[in-house]
Amino acid sequence: LGLYLAGMAGDTPPYPLTFAGLEAAAEAKMEHRLWDYVAGGAGDEHTQRGNVEAFLRWGIMPRMLSGAAERDLSVELFGHLLPTPIFMAPIGVLGVMTDDEHGDLAAAAASAASGVPMVASTLMQDPMEDVAAALGDTPGFFQLYTPNDRELAESFVRRAETAGFQGIVVTLDTWTLGYRPRDLQHATFPQLRGSCLVNYTSDPVFRGRLAVPPEEDPAAAALQWAMTFGNPTLTWEDLAWLRDLTDLPLLLKGICHPDDVRRAKDAGIDGIYCSNHGGRQAASAPALELLPAVVDAAEGMPVLFDSGVRSGPDVVKALALGATAVGIGRPYGYGAVLGGRAGIEFVLSCLLAETDLTMALNGYRSVADLTREVLVRT
Ligand code: FNR
Repeated sequence: LGLYLAGMAGDTPPYPLTFAGLEAAAEAKMEHRLWDYVAGGAGDEHTQRGNVEAFLRWGIMPRMLSGAAERDLSVELFGHLLPTPIFMAPIGVLGVMTDDEHGDLAAAAASAASGVPMVASTLMQDPMEDVAAALGDTPGFFQLYTPNDRELAESFVRRAETAGFQGIVVTLDTWTLGYRPRDLQHATFPQLRGSCLVNYTSDPVFRGRLAVPPEEDPAAAALQWAMTFGNPTLTWEDLAWLRDLTDLPLLLKGICHPDDVRRAKDAGIDGIYCSNHGGRQAASAPALELLPAVVDAAEGMPVLFDSGVRSGPDVVKALALGATAVGIGRPYGYGAVLGGRAGIEFVLSCLLAETDLTMALNGYRSVADLTREVLVRT
């Protein structure tokens, strides 16, 4: 309504209102090879297209006269009452996506203002302590890419605890990079640019591994990062070690098979994060199609979901398939490209407004109303 009223006064929205519009505007603004890194994905990119198409195969059953004039979009996650059911998925290159290279702080400020939680990536270009401090009262989560150096991994966990993050999300699907032709073509990896990797280079253990401070020899620091980043040999046994390290809620990102969900539960994990990394990692990995079986296997354990969410109806559908909260990736990233904090807040508020309207017009008053019966195959 606010946008309509502003339009009557002659003001148009500051940023595009559709995902396609955001995508086109962000592409026009970004350096070509960085754009390819952000927008691109695995193989011929049918996986990321499939993520979006999977949502289109569901319709939402309309119910009338159900008293949905007021809606409650809140959800509970690890004891936190969140005002909305969406969160910002970890994006490791928010720094290179914003004009001032402080995209992580911009997202944190947007999180504080909107109440939409942020999952802060290991690969931030702002130290995690600064990001956590900017989150205000909104709970934040730290995403861990487990390095092949246990002392360094432990240092990240301890820093996350001290900084005040409310949970650790361990991403499992990126122990090596996916086959991404656009990036291979440019032979580039954005994190290696300029002031990147600050969350790494601000780490005392990481700094201790370097012969000279990273400020004096960024290339050597980047090389050290590349040598420790991937952990191809990580197994369930290592997970037991990680579990013993911290009392914070521990979530696993990239788990999409019911057997792995059960195994995670047995290992004392607190939450599952079903995702195919936005189609950037394993080619042909489904995401939304696997969500119901993951939710069933989780037996009440929280299940986060992302990959392909582009609109309010998509949020409603993921919730109806059982997600506890729904992650947004590229859409808020494009908001960051276009307007930093203001751009992110705009994208999140549009998504939430559309989610709310979708529930209203279809007659659903709360997230609890969104069950599988709400969806119909189209
Ligand atoms: C990501 N993603 C990601 N995931 C993660 O666990 N750690 C990370 O550092 C990153 N970095 C990252 C960078 C960029 C540019 C993108 C687009 C994505 C994956 C992200 O968290 C999420 O799984 C997907 O983005 C969700 O899919 P959509 O919403 O982009 O389709």
